[in-house]
Amino acid sequence: MAAGNWKMNTTPSEGQALAEGIITAAGPPATKVVFGVPAIQLMQIKEITAKHEGYYVAAQNMHHEDKGAYTGELSAAMLADAGIDYVILGHSERRDYFGEDDHLINTKINKALAAGILPIYCCGEKLDIREAGSHEMIVGKQIEQALFSLAPEQMEQVVIAYEPVWAIGTGVTASPQQAQDMHQFIRTQIANQFGQSVADGTTILYGGSVKPANAEELFSMPDVDGGLVGGASLSAENFVPIIKAL
Ligand code: G3P
Repeated sequence: MAAGNWKMNTTPSEGQALAEGIITAAGPPATKVVFGVPAIQLMQIKEITAKHEGYYVAAQNMHHEDKGAYTGELSAAMLADAGIDYVILGHSERRDYFGEDDHLINTKINKALAAGILPIYCCGEKLDIREAGSHEMIVGKQIEQALFSLAPEQMEQVVIAYEPVWAIGTGVTASPQQAQDMHQFIRTQIANQFGQSVADGTTILYGGSVKPANAEELFSMPDVDGGLVGGASLSAENFVPIIKAL
């Protein structure tokens, strides 16, 4: 899977051109391609991806309540009614800037699944944790608190994105071996909780400065099933080679 997270970038006009440009340049993909777009663009990008097999649209967040006085928020029902395929949940920027924790993210995951929307659950450690060698402990806790209360048939629908915070937007990419080690650790945690079959079927994406120059080597690792791409997803010139690397 090649998922782009456009974050707060592109106007609706720019986003239309970007999605159409990527689809034209990449053609029918050998893997799933997901556009994670700003909320204002969700329905227009869905209209585009719906015409092209293998292309999907993701919201970048979703509220955990069904409805109510939550100015500016979007509910699972709103996204489902718009035909949105995926929702990115637990991104480190939402954890940092909006105080989201794994208990809240677990609630959001359950709401998304109940509405038929596929969660892309983000986890990852900060630099100080990596330097202290506590990254498996921290990510293991994130996985446990956000996912372990799910039923196996729910877990089968969840995509996991490992995004070391120290690699996001920094140009400092985790080495392929670092990515593989953590992805293997995550898959083992899923196997221990849900069984090997569920673990083997779980898509685990790497995110954090994925670029055309490093995508092929990252994706060649046995437990790296694709990427969740920020900056490099904002141009066809950079995102298409990443799609082609899968
Ligand atoms: O969600 C993906 C994003 O956090 C990675 O950003 O710019 O390092 O590819 P970037």
